[in-house]
Amino acid sequence: MHSIRPASEGDLDEIWRIQAASGQAAQWKPADYLLHECVVAIVNGRLAGFAVARCTAPGEIEILNVAVDLPLRRQGIGRSLIQELIGKNPGTVFLEVRQSNVAARKLYYSLGFEAAGVRPDYYSGPVESAIVMKFHSC
Ligand SMILES: CC(C)(COP(=O)(O)OP(=O)(O)OC[C@H]1O[C@@H](n2cnc3c(N)ncnc32)[C@H](O)[C@@H]1OP(=O)(O)O)[C@@H](O)C(=O)NCCC(=O)NCCS
Repeated sequence: MHSIRPASEGDLDEIWRIQAASGQAAQWKPADYLLHECVVAIVNGRLAGFAVARCTAPGEIEILNVAVDLPLRRQGIGRSLIQELIGKNPGTVFLEVRQSNVAARKLYYSLGFEAAGVRPDYYSGPVESAIVMKFHSC
């Protein structure tokens, strides 16, 4: 069982650890996530994953990152984190995902996201295209 709550400063070390161990996640400064909307999943009192979104326009957010601790993947935590952000932000949700990131793409499709476009060579290290995905909740 897991629960979801807003992130706080005391979570930043664990967010960093999980992000650093997740090569396909964006590698941004965790402290900056607190400037946006960041939620964490808790399992047995420990941080199991996080997701962060920023408001890009009224009724529109962009999911900036999501990652789940490797041993705890495939237990519905990633889905819950994204659902939490969607539920708190009615309207349109955008995100970008590496073309090769099958796990993340399947997660987003399973939640009702649709591919909205491709940004060629969007990522570096390695260079790869981004799939832009879009979800609309109302
Ligand atoms: C993507 C990620 C967040 C998914 O988290 P998770 O907690 O394992 O995902 P869930 O258990 O909620 O999975 C929900 C659905 O997503 C899909 N999915 C998740 N992982 C998958 C995988 N490895 N292979 C295929 N489908 C997968 C499935 O449809 C799954 O539903 P199911 O288990 O009922 O079949 C996790 O793999 C991760 O942290 N990856 C590294 C970071 C990353 O790539 N972030 C995305 C940046 S855009």
